[in-house]
Amino acid sequence: MRIGLLTSGGDCPGLNAVIRGAVLHGIKSFDDEFVGFQRGWRGLLDGDAVPLTRTEVRGLAKEGGTILGTSRTNPIEAPGGGVETVRRVLDDHGVDAVIAIGGEGSLAGAKRLSDAGLPIVGVPKTIDNDLRGTDYTFGFDTAVQIATDAMDRLRTTGQSHRRCMVAEVMGRHAGWIALHSGMSAGAHAVLIPEQRVPMSELFTWVREVHERGVAPLVVVAEGFLPEGFDEEFAGGGFQEDGRPRLGGVGEYLAAQIAEGAGVDTRYAILGHVQRGGAPTGFDRVLATRFGMAAVDLVRAGGWGRMVALHGTEIVPVDFTEALGGLKTVPQHRWDQARALFGR
Ligand code: F6P
Repeated sequence: MRIGLLTSGGDCPGLNAVIRGAVLHGIKSFDDEFVGFQRGWRGLLDGDAVPLTRTEVRGLAKEGGTILGTSRTNPIEAPGGGVETVRRVLDDHGVDAVIAIGGEGSLAGAKRLSDAGLPIVGVPKTIDNDLRGTDYTFGFDTAVQIATDAMDRLRTTGQSHRRCMVAEVMGRHAGWIALHSGMSAGAHAVLIPEQRVPMSELFTWVREVHERGVAPLVVVAEGFLPEGFDEEFAGGGFQEDGRPRLGGVGEYLAAQIAEGAGVDTRYAILGHVQRGGAPTGFDRVLATRFGMAAVDLVRAGGWGRMVALHGTEIVPVDFTEALGGLKTVPQHRWDQARALFGR
């Protein structure tokens, strides 16, 4: 078979490992051929394809980013997009099936194309880990590790000055990165989009920790809504998909804590550092397994489905399982973390 691969949406450590896993498995096990469409669905609509052989994927499991480039282009709504364009480009390039590696938006586009009869399977991707249908997405473990390392560093400088340190991490609608990195670094408060926390409670946590001689660490997800706000803090400008770029809640909270809790406070916004660089071993393995399983799904004609991690096994699930809502942090996970906040 001749299989097309593309990476779509925000990049994520492990994308290259998926590409390598798919190409190596397809070539070695089935004599398949591969092409890569550049810059996500945009490259597919433009017919911008490059060959992917064993040479192109050599040593790729450890490389961050994506060798194919990415975009947030919607294959149906974008200028020049639509089912017929996709069908024509696939015919022109002799492509029998597409493996689309993407998050919720990208998989929604993939679903519409497969509903129209096109041979598409998916691989779920997001550092935010907020996709339904899979227990974990690759990139999340790497982001948590990067954030943990940063917080460990913030804690030593914070402790030297007896300051409160605020670390802002990614997480637009779900607080998974904040919850896991905060728990891992021993944060004294974790603020996530799913939970409202009164300022007075945050100030109490910070003050109590400070009073026992410890520098408080507050972790906040970019999508957290502080008391009195109905919209997330936007750093200015918009993403390609029209959503505002987030960022800045950490700076706001640092000023509030300094005044409200009376503790000298500094902040750090980790931003895209969390998405860059080499994936962890866990993410390399998960991504490689996803890539290999996606080829098996193609060979089984599993159009309209994506590979997913359930427990420790990779299984196929319908696109619909991943769409129509996000996997947010459940109440019991928040309650458990919260029991360790403050003093
Ligand atoms: O959806 C993943 C994500 O990393 C969000 O947490 C973040 O808000 C967004 O992507 C940033 O996207 P961009 O790279 O377009 O700035």
